[in-house]
Amino acid sequence: MLSTPIPRIEAAHIAALTAEILELKRKRNAVILAHNYQIAEIQDLADFVGDSLGLSQQAAKTPADVIVFCGVHFMAETAAILCPSKRVLLPDLDAGCSLADSIRVEQLRSWKAEYPGAVVVSYVNTTAEVKAESDYCCTSGNALKIVQSIPEDQEILFLPDQFLGSWVQKMTGRKNMHIWMGECHVHAAIPPLRIDEKMKEFPNAELLIHPECGCLTPYLDRVIRQNGSCSLKVASTEGMIQRAANSSVSEFVVATEIGILHRLKKENPQKTFHPIDNEMSCKYMKMITVEKLHRALKEDIYPITVAGDIARKAKTAIDRMISIF
Ligand code: 13P
Ligand code: SF4
Repeated sequence: MLSTPIPRIEAAHIAALTAEILELKRKRNAVILAHNYQIAEIQDLADFVGDSLGLSQQAAKTPADVIVFCGVHFMAETAAILCPSKRVLLPDLDAGCSLADSIRVEQLRSWKAEYPGAVVVSYVNTTAEVKAESDYCCTSGNALKIVQSIPEDQEILFLPDQFLGSWVQKMTGRKNMHIWMGECHVHAAIPPLRIDEKMKEFPNAELLIHPECGCLTPYLDRVIRQNGSCSLKVASTEGMIQRAANSSVSEFVVATEIGILHRLKKENPQKTFHPIDNEMSCKYMKMITVEKLHRALKEDIYPITVAGDIARKAKTAIDRMISIF
């Protein structure tokens, strides 16, 4: 079973909407991009499902005229910056991100003034204005490589996710990296003890953990002290999908937003996946529904655009992000 069964009337309604969506998509030469945390019905309808990096790469190269972004606002904004000549639609304007909200552009400007000459590395979960004040963007899929590509003696301001920042710092051994204390409300909420409970419950499972998780830092410290005596993979959502497919292990504990379980189960029906916590759901990602996707294509809403100067500056940082992976 991939997801909760849908009542018959609702299933018929969704099937009718799906048929119309496919027709509208064809007529408008549109592509549907969906993040790995989207609801199952949206993932199944999308032309491409992936992580932030993969979705940006797809947006940059699509020949479509219209991109319907089934994700959150900063993702649609990134697509709009990469494809200024295309129509980018976000089906619900309220689909925001608590992590992107954890730093405003004025705060970044003040921080930069404290460290003149520092290189600014911003996670893609930021507003276009913050990206425009950044030298590099990164995603969880390439944050390590981006930081490693910066000369060792160069001071870095890393923002806004403290847990991703702390993991990158640990893995690179970088001392001259200052980290903003932002967090995602979904990933920060998991206490380290939850991992112990789950791993005790499923002792043969491998742990797949997203670097935005607040429980990662203390857990990783313990694993390092015990000389890596646990099966653990820190990865972006797409990294988790690849790991599940390629690993010889058949059981996994998954520490990230629960939407990813749909793809994990669908693509690996012979394997078992346990969410670290069923409550790990992002209310913003779940705002996108089949009805809203249908309305977006039909009524051409909500177009996402970024002002010329901000888009131009942000694009330099985003281009660096999509070229290093
Ligand atoms: P990924 O890039 O790993 O998919 O994570 C993005 C994210 O945080 C969306 O919440
Ligand atoms: Fe933002 Fe967290 Fe939701 Fe990802 S899961 S979109 S980081 S609030």
